[in-house]
Amino acid sequence: MNTVKTVRELRAAVARARSEGKQIGLVPTMGNLHSGHAALVTTAAQQADFVVASIFVNPLQFGANEDLDTYPRTLAADQEKLLQAGCNLLFAPTVEEMYPHGMAGLTRVTAAQLSNELCGSRRPGHFDGVTTVVGKLFNMVQPDLAIFGQKDYQQLAVIRAMVNDLNIPVQIIGEPTVRAEDGLALSSRNGYLTEEQRHVAPALYRHLNEIVQAIKTGERDYPHLVSQHLQRIEAEGFRPDYLEIRHALTLLPAQANDRDIVILVAAFLGATRLIDNIHLNLDSSL
Ligand code: PAF
Repeated sequence: MNTVKTVRELRAAVARARSEGKQIGLVPTMGNLHSGHAALVTTAAQQADFVVASIFVNPLQFGANEDLDTYPRTLAADQEKLLQAGCNLLFAPTVEEMYPHGMAGLTRVTAAQLSNELCGSRRPGHFDGVTTVVGKLFNMVQPDLAIFGQKDYQQLAVIRAMVNDLNIPVQIIGEPTVRAEDGLALSSRNGYLTEEQRHVAPALYRHLNEIVQAIKTGERDYPHLVSQHLQRIEAEGFRPDYLEIRHALTLLPAQANDRDIVILVAAFLGATRLIDNIHLNLDSSL
């Protein structure tokens, strides 16, 4: 696996692979890789002939009081994991390479309206930062397919909307969330948790599952269901940002007769913000 740091080298390597008739798969990441990322690369390697991963901690998607400076940068360990997972080329640019003229006044991709809800309303500008950098990566690599984790459900929806709205010729694949044995969704930010918080954290997934079970057995008073669980989540030591039952495609508040829904949660444990979700299609899961 080669590591390149410039767009020029990236384009040259991808062009070589393409000239050999290879299909190109892209796995964009911010590094500090775990088994969830490895699953993205494994799927990319199954679906494409040449897998490009990117590692770039994108300043454009971090808010002023967020963890841009402390976000773990672990390139050597990441390279090893990518190699093991079947990655062919790593693109690990500097901020200057990605934004040579700075970020003020930059042409940006404004994320679709569904980005203003949920995480978007708590992290203003976050999804515009994501769509801008992912749009740039799509133009640099011009992949046939790109893989994103379903843990970031809203991000996946926003990227799908960008690709549809801007007619970007890339197939988007959502990879199921990889979880620790106790159910906690793997995330680079789990590393911020203290031992005690790590013990508490899987409760979020238990709440999502309880909500799923309640809905499967006929509960349709969603505001009541949500407020019950929010109270319990708070009592368990979280500072909930939101717990919502939404339509799986539009991300609008779910109606009692919606069949395709997603339950999404975001909550702080100390200073660490955790997110998780479960997608529930009532027509296929009953
Ligand atoms: O999910 C992430 O790691 C990032 O938001 C992404 C998609 C790599 C864009 O920076």
